Amino acid sequence: MNEVVDITKSVGRKVTRLSDLTASQQESIRRIPAEKDAVNVPLAATRPNAIFTGRERFDLEQTKIFRRFPVPVTLAALLPDAGSIVAVEAYGVPLLVSRTRDGDVNVFVNACQHKGAKLIEDCTVHTQSRMTCPYHAWTYGIDGKLIGVARADMFAGLDKSQRSLKRLPARVFGGIVYAQLDGGDPDYSQLSDQIAADFTALGIADGHVYGRQTFELKANWKVVLEPFLEGYHVQRLHAASIGNLFVDAPNIVDVFGANIRQVSGRIDYDPAMLDEDAEANIHKLVTHAYTAFPNVVVVTSQYYTSVMILMPRDADRTTVHYFMLTPGPATTPKAEEVFKRSYELIISVFGGEDFRAAEISQAGLSTGVPDEVVYCGLEANIVHYYEALESLLERA
Ligand code: FES
Ligand SMILES: [Fe+2]
Repeated sequence: MNEVVDITKSVGRKVTRLSDLTASQQESIRRIPAEKDAVNVPLAATRPNAIFTGRERFDLEQTKIFRRFPVPVTLAALLPDAGSIVAVEAYGVPLLVSRTRDGDVNVFVNACQHKGAKLIEDCTVHTQSRMTCPYHAWTYGIDGKLIGVARADMFAGLDKSQRSLKRLPARVFGGIVYAQLDGGDPDYSQLSDQIAADFTALGIADGHVYGRQTFELKANWKVVLEPFLEGYHVQRLHAASIGNLFVDAPNIVDVFGANIRQVSGRIDYDPAMLDEDAEANIHKLVTHAYTAFPNVVVVTSQYYTSVMILMPRDADRTTVHYFMLTPGPATTPKAEEVFKRSYELIISVFGGEDFRAAEISQAGLSTGVPDEVVYCGLEANIVHYYEALESLLERA
């Protein structure tokens, strides 16, 4: 984003320096060529229309990926305080995510063990140690235990210890909360330790959620994902907003199974800039963009990081949970102004440009046109990612 004000001294924590990043991130940054030396390699690749529109493919992805593996549901940074809880609609499943006094993050189905009523209906973060069902007032601790039943004398033989909230297997990985939606044994094999270390270095694990927004989009989740895996659209779709900040060249890419790390130099980038000032903000020089299995997008900006979880709802419907993370809350009016302006800009770029592009693409794809999508050398990361997904879909 085009932040021109230097707010380095205004935020609680210093900005990210090259040396704050993992060795692997630093090594990939050092592979970015000067803009004039970038090598563009043409590509011939296609994918059929049906992967974005077909019922069969949608159902297969649900079975082999979104119900098979733990999926991201929210950010641990949303619950910085012990004794807090938030309701999340995740992939059609109402969830509660809490941080208990011991600091643990728990995920429960947001359904009362009496008759299934949602315990929390809004999406704000609540700081409290217990919650009461709005229907008949059963009360639970945020650790899921049933602690109070109204008119308990009228339930013969009710054992409260057997009626805790349904807990889902969950884990925080690189600051992202993952849960196994079918309640089965979680298989974390597709998550990458390197990506988690990178996310921690980027401050995702201990960042501050400055703003968040949920988008209900009329598009397949992969149509929503694609612009975050390619630089081809940037100077075109974003011509009036941020296009002039980015180079029309392939990113440096590292693939970790079904996880992709991309890094690119900003306009006029030269590798010599990396060593001019060891204290410099590395995200003034380069931009990171990640796709973490299966549907997390992370994009860095100078003073904040965007995290998105793209939740498929139907073949042509996706819910996007967008989070803007800053190193800490704004501590000065100037920092607040920069964060506020950045938030408005990023929402208008992602919401008004990338997500809009996804919806107008889906409108055409849904008519069956084109019958296949064709990818160029500036979109090679999309193909890399699809190959990783396809190998999971083909598994028995
Ligand atoms: S449904 Fe929750 S107390 Fe009855
Ligand atoms: Fe974009």
